[in-house]
Amino acid sequence: MTIASSRAQAEALDATDPLRSLRDQFQLPEGVIYLDGNSLGAPPKAALARLRHTAESEWRQDLVKSWNTAGWFDLPKTSGAKIATIIGVAPDDVIVTDNVSVNVFKLASALWTSAPGAIAYMEGEFPTDGYILQGLSQLTGARLLRIPETGLGATPDALPTDLRILVKSTVHYKTATVADISAWEQAAAHKGISIIWDLSHAAGLIDLDLANAGAQYAVGCGYKYLNGGPGAPAFIYVARKAAEKLDQPLSGWMGHAAPFDFADDYTPAPGVQRFASGTPPILSLSALDAALDLFAGVSMAAVEAKAATLGDLFLSRCVQLGLQSISPTIGARRGGHIALHHDHAYEVVQALIAQGVIGDFRMPDLIRFGFSPFYIQHTDIWDAAEILQSILANQSWRDPAFAHRQPVT
Ligand SMILES: Cc1ncc(COP(=O)(O)O)c(C=O)c1O
Repeated sequence: MTIASSRAQAEALDATDPLRSLRDQFQLPEGVIYLDGNSLGAPPKAALARLRHTAESEWRQDLVKSWNTAGWFDLPKTSGAKIATIIGVAPDDVIVTDNVSVNVFKLASALWTSAPGAIAYMEGEFPTDGYILQGLSQLTGARLLRIPETGLGATPDALPTDLRILVKSTVHYKTATVADISAWEQAAAHKGISIIWDLSHAAGLIDLDLANAGAQYAVGCGYKYLNGGPGAPAFIYVARKAAEKLDQPLSGWMGHAAPFDFADDYTPAPGVQRFASGTPPILSLSALDAALDLFAGVSMAAVEAKAATLGDLFLSRCVQLGLQSISPTIGARRGGHIALHHDHAYEVVQALIAQGVIGDFRMPDLIRFGFSPFYIQHTDIWDAAEILQSILANQSWRDPAFAHRQPVT
């Protein structure tokens, strides 16, 4: 695979990029190189237009009729079916609902109730998954385990035999290490363990074939590589056969088999729909639904391959700058971002933002850059690396203004 060693070579890679037409579908501000799509995806023009339409036409004109006439009531399923195609599962097995944390709670509780036993999360992975299991353990008395982190992440042989439920990221939020879903599922199946996959950094980026890899349970964000907008609702996947055996504790009316019967007793809806709880957030769900249409006809293999070449190029430039990365060097083992150590990582990120290169800071000393293949090009990577080089060379990050810590880093 070619790694550009000049801007002209980066331009040549962009010229033959099969995804290059997608960039025009996004509303990116002038003069910004946006390397934070792994945190909040950039706005697709269609999502902005849909938001206006949902508010101005469906809500303002058609009012409550829109639950039927504009497809609001079915939107969690409609968007879920689009996500199902992206992650490689049956269209009816995904709904859009709540956020990742709440979905982990519902799924882990339902699995624990059906087969009580030890529950576990991975040390060093995104903390909300562990926090939710800590809460579940307090509520139920379930034994809680933390699987130790080793090197670029633990391997499936780390799974204790007495474990029943594990929450695990597919792409690690700091290192970007990609888990081998089939290998984990095979090891888990031998030991009777159910894995809930957190796809937040994988959905819309990795060429996932979840059902064939043996995965039955997953959750993920709508606002990263799916570009659904700030606070976009999350999704939940439960394989049909497994869903029928599960009862989740947030048994609200939207997960009822017949919500508009207004019966006193709860009867779960068939399949994954029972994992819905309350009224869906239609404005943000509409934006996500429109953003998902960008994936129609796009090869996820091409998306994953482009993420690898973008990351390879950035890594090669960072090595020249003497920066040390914690992310896998092999593209196929890495998701869509790269994290680098720097003693003054926060200040460097602020100095970069002041020059139009947006990345983020993660504790304790990491600069994180994400490369969303839908709108980032090789020339963006080249230009961002040049700006990073100049900030490090002239130490402009030492300006005291860059040391002021904002609540969101
Ligand atoms: C791996 C992972 N899980 C979960 C979340 C967030 O979950 P929630 O939708 O509950 O805010 C993030 C956010 O960055 C994440 O990276």
